[in-house]
Amino acid sequence: MKKRIVIVGATSGIGRALAIELHKRGYVVGATGRRVERLQELEHQLESRIHTQFMDVVELDDTINQLHQLKENMGGMDIIVLNAGVSNYQKESVGREADLHVVDVNIRGFANLTSYSFNLFEEQGHGHIVGISSVAGLFGWGLNIPYNASKSFVNTYLQGYRQKANHSDADISVSTILPGFVESEMTENKKGMFWVQKTDKAATQIADAIEQTKNEAYITKRWRFVGWLAKLIPNWVWNRM
Ligand SMILES: NC(=O)c1ccc[n+]([C@@H]2O[C@H](COP(=O)([O-])OP(=O)(O)OC[C@H]3O[C@@H](n4cnc5c(N)ncnc54)[C@H](OP(=O)(O)O)[C@@H]3O)[C@@H](O)[C@H]2O)c1
Repeated sequence: MKKRIVIVGATSGIGRALAIELHKRGYVVGATGRRVERLQELEHQLESRIHTQFMDVVELDDTINQLHQLKENMGGMDIIVLNAGVSNYQKESVGREADLHVVDVNIRGFANLTSYSFNLFEEQGHGHIVGISSVAGLFGWGLNIPYNASKSFVNTYLQGYRQKANHSDADISVSTILPGFVESEMTENKKGMFWVQKTDKAATQIADAIEQTKNEAYITKRWRFVGWLAKLIPNWVWNRM
């Protein structure tokens, strides 16, 4: 039977490209997002084995009902990719409200769906949770404070769930995906980027990591070096930047 995969945040960038890549590999794909017209476009493009569902991850209870509905339409869910994310890098809207929005989407929205999915996978006896984090989660950064902190949460949160999965009777995998820079709406006009990966190439590598049930995957692989370096740099250096 073809595996059924839900991608949360599949209307643009990495999520959309991943939906197309996994569909190409034969998966039944469930795509979510707030931009319904983008979801309809995806349905037209892929034609079969594609189910879509409006979802605003900030609305915690609605999100769970919508995921449940999507799962029913797909005949079940084997894998969930938690990709929805926002950043307020260089945006005009900085300050308390902007910070809290990043927390609402990248932390509360993420935890809501991860926790629900883990319980569901324990009940059904199997499942795979894939979280799209970022290399940015390995250090604090004054130009994108809540974003880096939110991805740090994702890294630690998923590590905890990976440990929990080890003690579960169910066959559950937990993967943390750490992209560097990838072309998308999020990085449009962003200055100072390097090693920028094309969206479809990044999606291919993420799909490979999912199929290999990797615990952790840097996208692209060379970002592992930056990750290693970030962990080596002492706090007193980060604090002076
Ligand atoms: N691009 C990079 O360089 C890079 C690097 C590291 C990590 N990442 C991570 O990769 C993920 C995808 O980002 P991207 O670069 O592909 O950016 P993107 O094109 O802006 O995609 C963001 C996705 O998140 C969804 N989303 C945002 N707010 C949402 C909400 N409240 N409810 C539901 N869905 C929401 C968007 O859908 P709607 O707007 O339709 O709701 C969209 O599908 C993010 O988690 C990001 O942090 C990106």
